[in-house]
Amino acid sequence: MDLLLIGPPGVGKGTQAARLRQALGVPHLSTGDLLRRHVAEGTRLGAAAAAHMQRGDLVPDELVTEMALGQILGPSCAAGVVLDGFPRTPAQAEALDTALAAHGRRLTAVLHLNAPARTLLRRLTGRRTCGGCGDSYHLDTRKPRTPGRCDSCGQRLVQRTDDTAETARTRLAVHARQTQPLLARYHQAGVLHEVDGCGDVGAITRRLLAAVAPYAAGDQDASRSTGWPTSPVRSSLS
Ligand code: AP5
Repeated sequence: MDLLLIGPPGVGKGTQAARLRQALGVPHLSTGDLLRRHVAEGTRLGAAAAAHMQRGDLVPDELVTEMALGQILGPSCAAGVVLDGFPRTPAQAEALDTALAAHGRRLTAVLHLNAPARTLLRRLTGRRTCGGCGDSYHLDTRKPRTPGRCDSCGQRLVQRTDDTAETARTRLAVHARQTQPLLARYHQAGVLHEVDGCGDVGAITRRLLAAVAPYAAGDQDASRSTGWPTSPVRSSLS
């Protein structure tokens, strides 16, 4: 099952993709996380991407596409993937469709999460991320047990450099201009599902799982006839 979580910055794509990974047994690929790793490790790709990310702009298509497709077509995603943050432009979407088709795959479903701008800005500016393991917290809605320290590994929590109010506004505008137009493409392809990104994290996960349940059932039917492994929807998330 190849799923795409699409939506504006701060809507909860990373939060929900991690929960879908757990529920569906499909790996989660975040191009934002991959790029931040490249920046932290000082690779050539990281050096080329850093200034774009710092400003809240998109990293050029050719850099991101090569990096993302390398992962999506690699062995870890061979049985499917939950995409978070890729594609974000028409050129990236075209490249993804072509690459998947060449491997007999296509996007199973595109899940569009949305929420009002004031909610997105609150989520972005209040986010704090662990500098060690990358776990994500929020000053109001997901506080760590010890202020400023990660519950999982104890490392210091930091604010992402692109989570300031000014850069967050730029990112929202970039999303509206460059990524939102992809919704028409996926609507036309008959794979788009609108999912309300407001409210409790668990309730949003349940909405997403309800949207993909018919496809998960299809996967199980397919696996019975092909012998491929299944990815059952587990309902243990609260
Ligand atoms: P990326 O890291 O992908 O950033 P983004 O899309 O802007 O998304 P975020 O990670 O900010 O938000 P999210 O939707 O994942 O929300 P989260 O779950 O964390 O990309 C960063 C940059 O990399 C881009 O700006 C660009 O420069 C570059 N880039 C990446 N991909 C690219 C591509 N394909 N092409 C070109 N450039 C690319 O939640 C946010 C906060 O809200 C957290 O604190 C969380 O705890 C909280 N929260 C989540 N859900 C809820 C809820 N239901 N209620 C209350 N709080 C909640």
